Amino acid sequence: MKIYIDSANLDEIKEAFSWGIVDGITTNPSLIKKAVEHYKSKGINLTMEEYVSELLKEAGLLHPVSLEVIGNSEGKMIEEAEILFRKFDHIAHNVVIKIPVNPETEDNGTNDFDGLKAIKKLHENGINVNATLIMSPNQALLAAKAGAKYLSPFSGRIDDYLRTKAQINFKKDDYYPEEGLNHEEEILNDDGVVSGVDLVASIKEILENYDFEAEIIAASVRNPRQVRELAEVGAHIATIPFDVIKLMIKHPKTLEGMINFTKDTVSEYKEIFK
Ligand code: E4P
Repeated sequence: MKIYIDSANLDEIKEAFSWGIVDGITTNPSLIKKAVEHYKSKGINLTMEEYVSELLKEAGLLHPVSLEVIGNSEGKMIEEAEILFRKFDHIAHNVVIKIPVNPETEDNGTNDFDGLKAIKKLHENGINVNATLIMSPNQALLAAKAGAKYLSPFSGRIDDYLRTKAQINFKKDDYYPEEGLNHEEEILNDDGVVSGVDLVASIKEILENYDFEAEIIAASVRNPRQVRELAEVGAHIATIPFDVIKLMIKHPKTLEGMINFTKDTVSEYKEIFK
């Protein structure tokens, strides 16, 4: 499984790339906001264009960097995607444009299909698209058909959603999405998805059934257990926050082992290294 870092913080990105395990970067407007606030508080002032250029250079060739559009109509999203691509892709040829699978913000259906239309056009123009905010297998199927290169299902947010639903519908205050819903509950649920990892597993199965080339970037990852489960169900890529990547390397028994090996090292053995 490839690992992307889900961050717009340059310090985190540089550090994580130095560990030799990062294959790409995903950003979104909220992550950019967090990074801007962080650097402003430190008195560092880079223009947004300089900043994005730094991100792209840090990742380098062969390490895709997702940059999101902010519009929600087909025309606006295509225009913004082209601006992002024109301004930044020449830096390291690694720009991927994030398009919301459904960019509707008013819930009146007007823009429901603009994401798919934009994905189709950008794909035809040779621009790689990461279809974002995917919360159901059906949305993933549609985005893959429209030509998205990457599909980003939001595992953590689906777990949050199911947890809230279980509390409302089944009075389950202690619902653990990892354990899934029971059969009766699954029937009442929208599309039968029982957890964020299950969402990814379902999308993987659909892609394989029909030989789609799109790759899954499992997103909204919250903890190491979720990373393990995503790897087990065969997510092509997981985009993981810096703090969760840091937790993945830790184990109390590894620490204990290191403490003991260090304590047990005899002077004769230390001599070898002098
Ligand atoms: C990445 O592509 C997503 O934007 C990100 O993983 C969302 O994560 P969140 O649900 O923790 O905000």
